[in-house]
Amino acid sequence: MGKKSLLATRLLCWCSLVVVVFLLLLLTAPALALPLCTDSRAPVALNGTLSFCGGNGGTSCCGAAADAALRKQFEAMNVSDAACAGVVKSVLCAKCNPYSAELFNSSSKIRTVPVLCNGLSSASSAQSKDSTQNYCKLVWETCKNVTILDSPFQLPLQGGAGLPSSSSKLTDVWQSESDFCTSFGGSSDNQSVCLNGNEVSFSSTEPSPTSKGICLERIGNGSYLNMAPHPDGSNRVFLSSQAGKIWLATVPEQGSGGILQLDEASPFLDLSDEVHFDSQFGLMGIAFHPKFATNGRFFVSYNCDRTQSPNCAGRCSCNSDINCDPSKLGTDNGAQPCQYQVVVSEYSAKVSSSNVSEATSANPSELRRIFTMGLPYTAHHGGQILFGPTDGYMYLMMGDGGNKGDPFNFSQNKKSLLGKIMRLDVDGVQSKSQIANLSLWGNYSIPKDNPFTDDSDLQPEIWALGLRNPWRCSFDSDRPSYFYCADVGQVVSEILASMNHFILSSRCDITYLSIFSSLQLSSALLISATDLDLDMVMHSIF
Ligand SMILES: *[C@@H]1O[C@H](CO)[C@@H](O)[C@H](O)[C@H]1NC(C)=O
Ligand SMILES: *[C@@H]1O[C@H](CO)[C@@H](O)[C@H](O)[C@H]1NC(C)=O
Ligand SMILES: *[C@@H]1O[C@H](CO)[C@@H](O)[C@H](O)[C@H]1NC(C)=O
Ligand SMILES: *[C@@H]1O[C@H](CO)[C@@H](O)[C@H](O)[C@H]1NC(C)=O
Ligand SMILES: *[C@@H]1O[C@H](CO)[C@@H](O)[C@H](O)[C@H]1NC(C)=O
Ligand SMILES: *[C@@H]1O[C@H](CO)[C@@H](O)[C@H](O)[C@H]1NC(C)=O
Ligand SMILES: *[C@@H]1O[C@H](CO)[C@@H](O)[C@H](O)[C@H]1NC(C)=O
Ligand SMILES: *[C@@H]1O[C@H](CO)[C@@H](O)[C@H](O)[C@H]1NC(C)=O
Ligand SMILES: *[C@@H]1O[C@H](CO)[C@@H](O)[C@H](O)[C@H]1NC(C)=O
Ligand SMILES: *[C@@H]1O[C@H](CO)[C@@H](O)[C@H](O)[C@H]1NC(C)=O
Repeated sequence: MGKKSLLATRLLCWCSLVVVVFLLLLLTAPALALPLCTDSRAPVALNGTLSFCGGNGGTSCCGAAADAALRKQFEAMNVSDAACAGVVKSVLCAKCNPYSAELFNSSSKIRTVPVLCNGLSSASSAQSKDSTQNYCKLVWETCKNVTILDSPFQLPLQGGAGLPSSSSKLTDVWQSESDFCTSFGGSSDNQSVCLNGNEVSFSSTEPSPTSKGICLERIGNGSYLNMAPHPDGSNRVFLSSQAGKIWLATVPEQGSGGILQLDEASPFLDLSDEVHFDSQFGLMGIAFHPKFATNGRFFVSYNCDRTQSPNCAGRCSCNSDINCDPSKLGTDNGAQPCQYQVVVSEYSAKVSSSNVSEATSANPSELRRIFTMGLPYTAHHGGQILFGPTDGYMYLMMGDGGNKGDPFNFSQNKKSLLGKIMRLDVDGVQSKSQIANLSLWGNYSIPKDNPFTDDSDLQPEIWALGLRNPWRCSFDSDRPSYFYCADVGQVVSEILASMNHFILSSRCDITYLSIFSSLQLSSALLISATDLDLDMVMHSIF
């Protein structure tokens, strides 16, 4: 299950329209708790200390308002005994503890009182002799005879009725310490987290717990199709809109409550004049050269309209090489075949000081045209680009071009680049005549180990085939031989057939399988793996 949600997040990240920051993982073993508040939010950095609950300048689940509310609640309790008042205060202020979700055990029902450490349940453990761990006993001893108004220790009686009076002592309700601690105590061993009257803190050297989920923090309201981290590792990201603008934005510190800093009026690059923007068209992908930090090169994938732009003049993907006659395709949504095209273009950061990190805009003119191809219809043309983490080659995702059922079988056609993932070398320079000789679609060269060397029927650009509309793919950063891809399928058999086909035609020991959600057959997940049989992949995912 863990891996499945990891995959889901990876894909979600790419598709998300709201920019989010992955905050922290939820808890599995309580002893390895991570900071989390009872409202399932991450604690935020304290601005100074809270006037009631204090805090040591770190993070807290309370701001000034929550702190003031706790003070009010405490004062209303009118606890006359000073020792008991101190204990009650620490119980109330546990809400502000950065680990409050665990103290109040939010994985089940939220409690009114945190779990109080109870020495009784771990009598066999050596540590239980330490009296500070038996906090439940301390609460009982200190407060049992003290009247507390609207006591947090009131438990609703059977049938939902409260205590007869809002004013109570612990002894009104519980016979004994053991009685009381059965209701409020937790074992003070390493298997559970409980309040011992102090701030809960965990050694930072503890191993990370197994991930079980993620928390998201909203940091922006904008609508973006792509997000790419600045390759210099600073807290900046590039964001792009489908309409054709790319911005450089600063991401706030995790948990600071800050928002994304971005100047809408000053994009890093504005291609909206070149880009054809419509429901399935627009600026589809951005990718930064592996050596961007020194060469400032980056790449943009977008769609253009041949009737609007003279630079939108690629060869038609429906052509005689694949026995496709454009005049037989007809119009689609009023568009002529290959009126709309897919373009991958190279740009460069505008650098004045030779330090690429300082660039805040790009040179507006195209440096080099990497790829241009006319599209048969008006849908399914992928457009994502990314660089392989180990080989440094560009991967270009391309859909089957659209229309129900891929009527010309482009996706399975080894000579067509529709319905494929391409692998291109954008560093190898080709002369005009070489480009013409090899019938390339732009300024790139073919990596020597592309799959065509094993299957000479394949167009040399092709790395994977049989896709309908690959929409957000990613290499696993931990295991770069794993490639995840969400594909938009029409029917199960279509995708199964195509994936089987790819297994047969694959090389580099990469195997593929697709996994179908039983609820949503239209979306499938494509997994590849090295050195693993398919069963193992299956098992590691679910
Ligand atoms: C911290 O609190 C002070 C006073 O309440 C305020 O002036 C200041 O802006 C706050 N700082 C931050 C970073 O919120
Ligand atoms: C608070 O307690 C004091 C005595 O300890 C008592 O005189 C006073 O009336 C109480 N206040 C309320 C609101 O019950
Ligand atoms: C926390 O809740 C889980 C069930 O959701 C339960 O198994 C566990 O015992 C609880 N822990 C404590 C300390 O109450
Ligand atoms: C608790 O209060 C009762 C009377 O209200 C008294 O008899 C008893 O001695 C008190 N016990 C303690 C431990 O203070
Ligand atoms: C919990 O584990 C830590 C380190 O493993 C140990 O130092 C500590 O004494 C343990 N605490 C209890 C209450 O068992
Ligand atoms: C989202 O928009 C609302 C309303 O304009 C604004 O109050 C809020 O701060 C914005 N949130 C972020 C994270 O930008
Ligand atoms: C480049 O600029 C960044 C941001 O201003 C700075 O942090 C970095 O140290 C600079 N690098 C060099 C080599 O000057
Ligand atoms: C190669 O790039 C140059 C410069 O952008 C461009 O003029 C030329 O048309 C490109 N070649 C192809 C085949 O796209
Ligand atoms: C596409 O493939 C299907 C199934 O193999 C076949 O029935 C159909 O005739 C093919 N269409 C074209 C245009 O080749
Ligand atoms: C490409 O060049 C080779 C030799 O350089 C030649 O044999 C071949 O016919 C050329 N192909 C095309 C399509 O021009």
